[in-house]
This record gives sequence, structure tokens and C-alpha cells, in this order.
Amino acid sequence: MDKFLIWGGNKLKGEVQISGCKNSVLPILAAAMLGDSPSRIKGTPWLKDADTMILILESLGMKIKRSFNGEVVIDPSELVSWEAPYDLVRKMRSSIYVLGALLGRVGKAVVSMPGGCVIGPRPIDLHIKGLTQLGAKIITRHGYIIAEAAKLKGSDIFLSGTFGSSVGATANVLLAAVKAEGTTVIEGVACEPEIIDLVRFLRKMGAKIDGEGSPTLRIRGVKSLHGAEYTVIPDRIEAGTYMMAAAITGGNLTLRNAAPSNLESVTDKLRQVGAIVTLKSDSISVKVTKKLKPADITTLSYPGFPTDLQAQFMALMTITSGSSVIVEKIYPDRFMHVGELTRLGANIKMDNGSALVKGVKKLSGAPIMASDLRASAALILAGLVAEGETTVHRVYHIDRGYEEIEEKLSQVGAKIKRVKSN
Ligand code: EPZ
Repeated sequence: MDKFLIWGGNKLKGEVQISGCKNSVLPILAAAMLGDSPSRIKGTPWLKDADTMILILESLGMKIKRSFNGEVVIDPSELVSWEAPYDLVRKMRSSIYVLGALLGRVGKAVVSMPGGCVIGPRPIDLHIKGLTQLGAKIITRHGYIIAEAAKLKGSDIFLSGTFGSSVGATANVLLAAVKAEGTTVIEGVACEPEIIDLVRFLRKMGAKIDGEGSPTLRIRGVKSLHGAEYTVIPDRIEAGTYMMAAAITGGNLTLRNAAPSNLESVTDKLRQVGAIVTLKSDSISVKVTKKLKPADITTLSYPGFPTDLQAQFMALMTITSGSSVIVEKIYPDRFMHVGELTRLGANIKMDNGSALVKGVKKLSGAPIMASDLRASAALILAGLVAEGETTVHRVYHIDRGYEEIEEKLSQVGAKIKRVKSN
């Protein structure tokens, strides 16, 4: 398993190019299955999760060509299977997107149940509820979700759950509803930019959808969809991570191909802690010239502070001049990074689903273990500022969601090296 060696203390300076959005491209690739002609998706990041979705689509019969410039061409003309097997689904929870897409395409799907996850329980009750209301009969047997619908019919669906709206359930129900007979109105949908991106792609394919970005989506089912050319939005979580990399190292970074309007809660917090954040139409600059102040965050659905940046923000708070409280409202157990940050000298106490972080003068390098994608990013950020050498083990998590992270960081002055192992 690869590991990263990081020597902390360098201020990051320069420009970083932000990649296409992982969490947009995954449902968009699945959506391409609904067309009756090829789609061309531009800006697909070179990531393990995109590889997994491509492998799943290929196993269903799609012909896929991927180029190094980020273009993926999907020819959906042949469907040879409607089963997404455990071996692929277990690698990535978002494989569940083929459930809605297969139902929309052939009215049947057999998809392995996504299992547990290190960031806490991740139920799929809302996916099942929404698809059932469209007319699908769904059972689970031997670890598989088995879904069938003689005909999908438009319906009024309330899709919000105990923790608010669900990105995945919204996408899945949308994928099934675009070709259902009649009109579907979904209330309580996710307003995340990735859902807006999916809606825009589906609309280019010929779908009739209104309301993206609001809590209500209205979908008028169409008989057929065609392939479309589409460029995915920049990855707001990758951009947010580099914003914090600039801040934690007291550096000065400009992020190109960023989408500032999707990062307002993050910009607001970074300004509150004392960073100078300058926004242009498609770039974000973050500069820090003095000791950072603490700030509290509570993660919420969009446009609130994203759970996918909670760990990175916590890393930043470990070296401020005071105390901050971090409350996780999306995944209450998403605190695996706390123990590892503590190994670097951070002062963090957990109390009933929130973390109290008391800023320390400095972190000191140590061997640490990455537990999931965003926790890995947080540990790398901490390593960039810790004194001496930090070794981050199990960096395969990072390859799921950050394109060429060590190259991007090295180009702006970080001392980071991947040590390959077999
Ligand atoms: C998406 O996951 C993202 N993944 C996650 O990013 C992100 O953390 C999450 O949204 C929240 O923003 C992708 O887009 C591929 P949800 P998803 O359904 O869709 C509860 C990353 O690091 N819920 O919006 O699986 C759920 O438990 C990943 O890139 C139900 O109760 O998340 C959570 O509390 C990690 N029942 C809340 O809703 C359901 O049926 C939001 O989850 C579904 C979800």
C-alpha cells in the first residue's frame, strides 16, 4: 500500500488547477446509460471512483472510450446485463446510481447493497422509498437489491429524511423519473451543485426537469433521451481542500477552474478566521499573513458548510489562537481523523457528536493512518504544517477523490513524496 512522506513547514505559493467534480461525474456517467446515442463527458477526473463507475457500466454492456484529456465517450446502445455485482459495488457506494438508471432504462435492476462505511451508517431507505413510489417493486435478498417495474409512473414524492435531504436518493429517483410516464414532483430534494449538474446534463439529453437548486424538482417524463456533450463542474471539495492548504501553511494560492459561487460557506469561514479570500468568476485566491483565529462550524446540507470539508477544517483549527467547536450534522460518526490529528499533537476532545479543538502552537510529524477520503486530505494538510516528517499510511483512499494531489501540492512548494509499495 502506498504512503506519503511529508516534510512540513513550507508555505504554499502559486497556482493550482482544480479538476472536474467527482461527485458530479459519477451520477452523470450513470445517466449516460439512459440515452439512445453516445454521450461525451468532458472534465472527468482521473480518479479511482470514476474508474469503478466506468467498470460497472462496461460490465452492463456500455462501450466506453476514455482519453487522457478527461473525455469519456459512452455508447449505451447495448445492454447485456442489469446486475451490478458485489465485487465492484463494494469499492464505491455511489455504484448505487446504476439502480435508478437501470430502472429508467429497462425497468429492472439487481444491485449489490452498498455495505457499511467508515464515516458511519449510510442507509438507502430514501432511495428505495422514492423508487417504490414511482412504481418499482423492490426487495432485498442475499445482499442484493432486486428492483422491477413493468412501468414507471410519475408520482408526488417527499424525499427528505432524519438528516435532511439526500444527494444520492435525489439523483437515483431523478434517473428513474426522467423516462417515467407522467409528471413526478419530488419535494425535499438535495440542492447541492452536483444535483444541479446532473439535471443540466439530463436536460441536454432531452429530459424535462424544472427546479434544480431548489427543494422541489418537477419532472415531466419523456419517451426517449439522446446522448449529449457535457462538461462537469469543478470539484468544490477539492477546491475547498486547497483553500485550507493555503490557509494552514500561511501561504498564498490561486485556484484556477474553481467555482467560487459553490463555496460561499467555506469562503465565509476562511474570512472569519483571518484569511484574505479573493474571488473572480472562475478563480479563488487565498492568502494568509498572520496567525489564524478560531471559528465554529456545523456541517449541513448545501449551502451550509459541507461535511466533506469538515476534517480539513478541523486540521486548520488545530493551529489557531483559540478554541473552536465542530458539529457534524450529516454523519455524526465522521470523526475518524480526530485520533490521528491528536497523534500529531493536536488538542481535540470529543463530546457527544461534536469536537472541541483547542489550537496549539505547533504540530509535530509522526506516522499516521488515513481512514477515508476526506480524513486523508485532513491528515495531509496537517502534515504540511507539522514540524519534521509525517508519514501518512493507506493513501489509496486519497486516490479515490483527489487527482494528482502530490503533483499539485509539490508544484506550489510542498515537500511531499509518494512511496510506492506492492
Ligand atoms: C453524497 O453521499 C456524497 N457522495 C458524499 O461525499 C457526501 O458526504 C454526502 O453526499 C453529503 O453531502 C457522492 O456524491 C458520491 P446523502 P450520499 O444521501 O449521497 C442520510 C465524499 O467524500 N440518508 O446526501 O451517500 C445519510 O445517512 C463523499 O466525496 C438517509 O437517511 O449522501 C446522511 O445522514 C462521502 N437515507 C444524509 O442522509 C438514505 O436513503 C445525507 O446523505 C440516504 C441518506
